Amino acid sequence: MSSHAPLDGKVAIVTGSGRGLGLAYAQELARQGAAVVVNDVDEATAAEAVATIEAEGGRAVAVALPVGPTATAQELVRTAVDTFGGLDILVTNAGVLRDTVLWKMSDDDFDTVINVHLRGTFTCVREAASWMRENEVAGRIICIGSPTGQRGNFGQTNYAAAKAGIVGMVRTWALELKRAGITANAVIPVAATAMTATVPYFAAAVEADAAGEPMPAFFRHDLGFGTSEDVAGLIAFLASDAAAAVTGQAIGIGGDRLQLWSHPDAVATAYRDGGWSYDDLATGFADAAGPLQSVGEKFPPLPEELQRS
Ligand SMILES: NC(=O)c1ccc[n+]([C@@H]2O[C@H](COP(=O)([O-])OP(=O)(O)OC[C@H]3O[C@@H](n4cnc5c(N)ncnc54)[C@H](O)[C@@H]3O)[C@@H](O)[C@H]2O)c1
Repeated sequence: MSSHAPLDGKVAIVTGSGRGLGLAYAQELARQGAAVVVNDVDEATAAEAVATIEAEGGRAVAVALPVGPTATAQELVRTAVDTFGGLDILVTNAGVLRDTVLWKMSDDDFDTVINVHLRGTFTCVREAASWMRENEVAGRIICIGSPTGQRGNFGQTNYAAAKAGIVGMVRTWALELKRAGITANAVIPVAATAMTATVPYFAAAVEADAAGEPMPAFFRHDLGFGTSEDVAGLIAFLASDAAAAVTGQAIGIGGDRLQLWSHPDAVATAYRDGGWSYDDLATGFADAAGPLQSVGEKFPPLPEELQRS
């Protein structure tokens, strides 16, 4: 490890880092000099992830516990401090899906996804940010959103709620943590992982990746869909001193594409003395509001040669 690595001397926690995007984040943070607390539900997966980091000369330790409960968040922070002497970076990445349309979604489908993503992000950030404030560490909070949270997606009520909620919390934390010099940002990733492997639209890209071939340019460029490693550079950048001024942002990344997402803002404003009655709206809404907003992600048609049935 070079003595000039940007994250030398820093300590990071990455939740859900046994595989997929989280593993790529943990590996890249370690390559850039950070010591990493790897977390996953499965002990063997977490231990394997630690081994891959150590094999490259990095430092890592595993905590095999499910995020969601406060006790897990406390254990993660305690492990960072006890093992590596502090905490500088938290990446809340752990996630699960329970996709189905609204009218088939059970209470359990809803609660499971909210518990891991939304509550897991809340409990981990509360614990980490509290420690950083008390110890006057100008830390880095990096939370993981999704295009579904930004735009909505068919069959993902629970996930949309959790991911939109995470970005809402990030905006709030950017305000609350500013004075302490702690930044809070959301990353909106897209990558080929277990989570996206079964989406038919991405099949040709996942196929190429599995065969060790580069993904077609249509995916990397037009869709911003690539590998987990394509996302990891942004995580390391946001974790570094170079990103001290970047806070409260939602940043999209995937394949060859980097995007800054807007936050919701009023796109049309109209006034009426005395306010807006039903009759005023029935006759005047269309003019006052202008063109309505779209929902859902916009996917370009798949070129014929990339279609798989
Ligand atoms: N892959 C994508 O294109 C994509 C797009 C948008 C957002 N995301 C988000 O990125 C994150 C990582 O997704 P991925 O694609 O790598 O998925 P993945 O399923 O490959 O990895 C998720 C990891 O989280 C772990 N995990 C699940 N529940 C956990 C819990 N309670 N505590 C600790 N670990 C837990 C899993 O064991 C797994 O290792 C998720 O938050 C996901 O919603 C992914």
